[in-house]
Amino acid sequence: MASTGRSYGLILFCFSLSLIFTGLRAHIAELDEYWQKRADEAAKAIEEAYHPNPEEVTDHLNIHVHNALGDSNSTRRELRKRDGPCQATNPIDRCWRCDVDWETNRKKLADCALGFGRRTRGGKSGEFYVVTDSSDNDMVHPKPGTLRHAVTRNRPLWINFARKMVIRLSQELIVTSNKTIDGRGTNVLITGGAGITLQFVSNVIIHSIRINNIVQGSGGMIVDSEDHFGLRTMSDGDGISIFGSTNIWIDHVSMSKCYDGLIDAIMGSTAITISNCHFTNHNEVMLFGASDSYSQDQMMQVTLAFNHFGKGLVQRMPRCRWGFFHIVNNDYTHWLMYAIGGSQHPTIISQGNRFIAPPIIDPKANSQQVTKREYSPESVWKNWLWRSEGDLMMNGAYFVSSGSPTAALPFSKSDMISAKPGTYVTRLTRFSGSLDCKIGQPC
Ligand SMILES: *[C@@H]1O[C@H](CO)[C@@H](O)[C@H](O)[C@H]1NC(C)=O
Ligand SMILES: *[C@@H]1O[C@H](CO)[C@@H](O)[C@H](O)[C@H]1NC(C)=O
Repeated sequence: MASTGRSYGLILFCFSLSLIFTGLRAHIAELDEYWQKRADEAAKAIEEAYHPNPEEVTDHLNIHVHNALGDSNSTRRELRKRDGPCQATNPIDRCWRCDVDWETNRKKLADCALGFGRRTRGGKSGEFYVVTDSSDNDMVHPKPGTLRHAVTRNRPLWINFARKMVIRLSQELIVTSNKTIDGRGTNVLITGGAGITLQFVSNVIIHSIRINNIVQGSGGMIVDSEDHFGLRTMSDGDGISIFGSTNIWIDHVSMSKCYDGLIDAIMGSTAITISNCHFTNHNEVMLFGASDSYSQDQMMQVTLAFNHFGKGLVQRMPRCRWGFFHIVNNDYTHWLMYAIGGSQHPTIISQGNRFIAPPIIDPKANSQQVTKREYSPESVWKNWLWRSEGDLMMNGAYFVSSGSPTAALPFSKSDMISAKPGTYVTRLTRFSGSLDCKIGQPC
């Protein structure tokens, strides 16, 4: 039954893609053969990446958090062995950060993702590509050595940078599948221009870079692979825009002040983990699912773990539709309106986060409420499964749960190993954001 339902879903998805995707923020001015093929492949990848039992994935992550923090003695032993004061505090970081030779073992990172994006390998199977040129002037035939040249090659690549760099993207950066953008050790800032677009791709890792002050791109002819370019309409001005894509892992990225969202994931994008990031100074932080009528967004499965939602944030951390969202051990120190919101019955499992409510300015604004439901009366949203477990609530913060407190849980209590309680969150997120790694030292 389930598999029939899914293949039916796939057919529907392909059908609706060809109808909708030129309209809905796709920015492809002409749906040519190349983009049709890329869209069809992406639809298949979404089908394959979708996890029929998302609770298994959340449990998998929980076990790792538990192991990373559970046994303090083994932690200390490990630190001594590593020959340096490495303080990786969560299971993703512990997978690679204490390695003195992280620079020679860069690709080890590809085995470190957890959560729904845990199968993301990025460019692990490819060569290294070192970006040596920070310019971005030719949108059709980018110069070898530039980031745009690197991300549009038709083969897996592990992309890193020759030195500290500030890159202003003249138009959205259209990344192809099987790429890692790895800023470790070089302090890379993408700023002042267009953002990063992951459209109909799979297997992309973005690691340890900073992205801020992103604006809309005007559109025009833009290269989208080694042997193709096409006309694009204006880009939205998101920091990272994920569109119809699968197996995406964004780790240790610092983001602030973008024209639209910091990270948007739409059009059935799934198998995504966003971890160890630091977000500041932005209104609408993250949008997962752009349309209440686009039911294929029920394929969305996203993990948010060990992120710090910091100063100057207002709302949407994230704002969800349709899919399954595991929000675990994040530190929410600042918001003005609300932290987690949504419409169209998304499933939201909030575990071991810390929520610090803003000071009350207008008592009617309910800004101490972590959650916000939109476009639905309580008689409808009372059935959405929104659950808070082990969250630490401060300054009067409160989470309004919904869904049946017993039967509607997507996992059985006894099977589930809890995330670390919210009191551990400052430690777990202590190194969030872009890392300042030094070669020859643990990072
Ligand atoms: C850590 O080591 C001490 C001393 O050997 C022991 O008493 C303690 O039970 C250990 N703790 C854990 C969590 O294993
Ligand atoms: C990405 O890599 C996988 C595994 O190597 C390969 O099967 C797939 O075709 C690649 N995708 C693209 C679009 O190159």
